[in-house]
Amino acid sequence: MKTERHLATPPAPTADFKPARRACLAALPLFLAGCAAGSDVSDGAATAPAAAPAPAPAAGLSAYPPLPAGPETGPGSGAAPAVFQQVLGLGRGINFGNIFDAPREGAWGLRAEDEFINLVGEGGFTRSVRLPVRWSNHASADAAARIDPASMARVEHTVDRLLARGASVLLNLHHYRQFDGDPLDPGEFAVDPAVVDLRFLALWQQIAERFANRGPALMFEIYNEPHGRLEPLWNDLLSRALRVIRQRNPERVVVVGPTEWNSAKALPRLVLPPDRHVALTVHHYEPFAFTHQGAEWVQPMKPLGAECCSPAQQAEMLALLDMAAADAQRRQRPMLVGEFGAYSKAPLASRVAYLRLMRSAMEARQMPWMYWELASGFGVYDPMARRMRPELFEALYGR
Ligand code: BGC
Repeated sequence: MKTERHLATPPAPTADFKPARRACLAALPLFLAGCAAGSDVSDGAATAPAAAPAPAPAAGLSAYPPLPAGPETGPGSGAAPAVFQQVLGLGRGINFGNIFDAPREGAWGLRAEDEFINLVGEGGFTRSVRLPVRWSNHASADAAARIDPASMARVEHTVDRLLARGASVLLNLHHYRQFDGDPLDPGEFAVDPAVVDLRFLALWQQIAERFANRGPALMFEIYNEPHGRLEPLWNDLLSRALRVIRQRNPERVVVVGPTEWNSAKALPRLVLPPDRHVALTVHHYEPFAFTHQGAEWVQPMKPLGAECCSPAQQAEMLALLDMAAADAQRRQRPMLVGEFGAYSKAPLASRVAYLRLMRSAMEARQMPWMYWELASGFGVYDPMARRMRPELFEALYGR
């Protein structure tokens, strides 16, 4: 069940992962209040950075109106041909996970190292990178959500280096826990509930402005895995965010997924504004008891030893992809599988079988994909050995 996902986030496999944080994870869900209040994450003080001088106070949501509604299907609807070309061209990509989506870069054991950047782009194993960023934790706590300049510069530097290597970059807004109504992670600070949605829109205002002059290889994704509190709000808020983005990025590809943590099952509830540069995304972690066995951030923890992929499991996996494909077809928009993967605690032979099946099934349905993730608990790359894990790599990116 997706509803039990993402109570907290996985440990990185390196020694940097703080023992006290591990204890917090083990004590889920009781730990949440205590751990959130007194984080052990040394570089992630749980206080908001000071706001920059005198931002204009946001005048409520009316300062960010939604786009006009319009028909989603029929003549003149659907994505422009260039959007199909760009999104289908993403092919076999990778998530740079557990880096900027941690409460602070490095707090989950990984930083945006040159070593990682040099693996992708020209001459690398892929030219497509999804870059998850927890912007909300690097911004003032008020409605203006002023992004801390050093954090903005750090992400910008990484994006530009990836672009300079010839990679396409899908930059998103990830893990703003209050936005989903979830408990905070250790190292994350709380804001006044009255400004939660305004901050989301103000963050996009700044990101969209800052990256407006990049080429089409930079794409935006409005929010990772909306769920919980966002279920009734999502269609409205995504439209407001898209309008903010469009002010300075009229034709940039923007990727949008449904609620229920981007489950294909929630696609029928997703309403898109009539914007021809929007593409769709889903995440796919079924069979969940297999992909998330032993995952510390899922409570109750799934027992170890589940295998993949029986005929019943295959049917479940393919049915979700078929649902996503049918929705994309109906709306005439490309569909990206922005995350899928199996955690390191799953049996290796089954992980390989799962990856092979997913890859061929997604590709048979013309869905580009981004594996979750590069170098942490699901990692295709071993940062200690400084090499790809051969079985996973072959299953994903081999001929
Ligand atoms: C989350 C990660 C998590 C992964 C698999 C992602 O969307 O951002 O924290 O490890 O899903 O559960």
